[in-house]
Amino acid sequence: MMNSSLPTVLVTHTLPEGWLDLLQDRCRLIIGPPDANEFSPDLEAHLWEAEGIYSLLTIRISAETLSKAPRLKVISNMAVGFDNIEVAACTRRGIPVGHTPGVLTDGTADLTMAILLAAARRLFEANIDAREGRWTTWSPTGWLGADLCDATLGIIGMGKIGQAVAKRARGFGMRIVYCDSIRRPEIEKDLEAAWLDFNELLPRSDFVSLHVPLNPETYQLINADSLRKMKKTALLINTSRGPVVDTQALIQALQENWIGGAALDVTDPEPLPPDRPLFALKNCLVVPHIGSATWNTRRRMAELACENLLAGLQGKRLPYTANPEVYKD
Ligand code: DGY
Repeated sequence: MMNSSLPTVLVTHTLPEGWLDLLQDRCRLIIGPPDANEFSPDLEAHLWEAEGIYSLLTIRISAETLSKAPRLKVISNMAVGFDNIEVAACTRRGIPVGHTPGVLTDGTADLTMAILLAAARRLFEANIDAREGRWTTWSPTGWLGADLCDATLGIIGMGKIGQAVAKRARGFGMRIVYCDSIRRPEIEKDLEAAWLDFNELLPRSDFVSLHVPLNPETYQLINADSLRKMKKTALLINTSRGPVVDTQALIQALQENWIGGAALDVTDPEPLPPDRPLFALKNCLVVPHIGSATWNTRRRMAELACENLLAGLQGKRLPYTANPEVYKD
């Protein structure tokens, strides 16, 4: 029998067995469908009684959503990013927003290197050509790509993931330049990385990899102007958030060879409909936002999101809060 004294928690998606174990006996869980890009109507009908929301990044939580949830004490996002949530509105209501930094750093950095290598060595195009019968001989000039060794990797955003990418790239013999709002002397020393201004980094980099959160300052940071500043051979890697890049400008840059190519784990919009121009370009690899998609990483994200949620329900400080300003002390 359901224990009505337990706090009601809305989980926006069905998750694999075991991932929500920490919540099972402590909350009355109302669980949404396996895949969703918005609050399911069934779930929305319970917002009035929800004390907690456990959300994924595809679910927009706006001030309007909050207005339907008068009892809400905590939102826990199973993601490091939280641009799907109107955090300022949560803060105004005194609602802490949990997120999951740290546990997906390595997984996302691995995927960044995977798609960077795929772009450098034109794996996407080579695979299509092989499947479609264009592999007719060992061609001395066929599918020539770019070396990583001695190439310069420009990292935009040197937080945890940017640093993990830089470490991996050093293992491939790449030189690191980076830009960030703060300088990181220890990284500069350990990885022989050089800090550059954004506009200096672009023309100097053979690869540009984006690792910034999405916010008003980073929205369309990579636009026609910045793409024009990059090398004609440069490859753009995005495993951060789609809207950090102006999609229309990127399409034009790829079609008109302003840059060499792109590898995108994130797009604007998401999901990207299959008929969109980016999918028709051979110099563009698109994968469906899978930076953190390993079993261990996702399970750890799920657990951390449970821990954040439970702390919020108990009125304790969340282990990882997107809006620490919600705490007065
Ligand atoms: C995040 O957590 O923000 C990633 O984009 C998905 O894991």
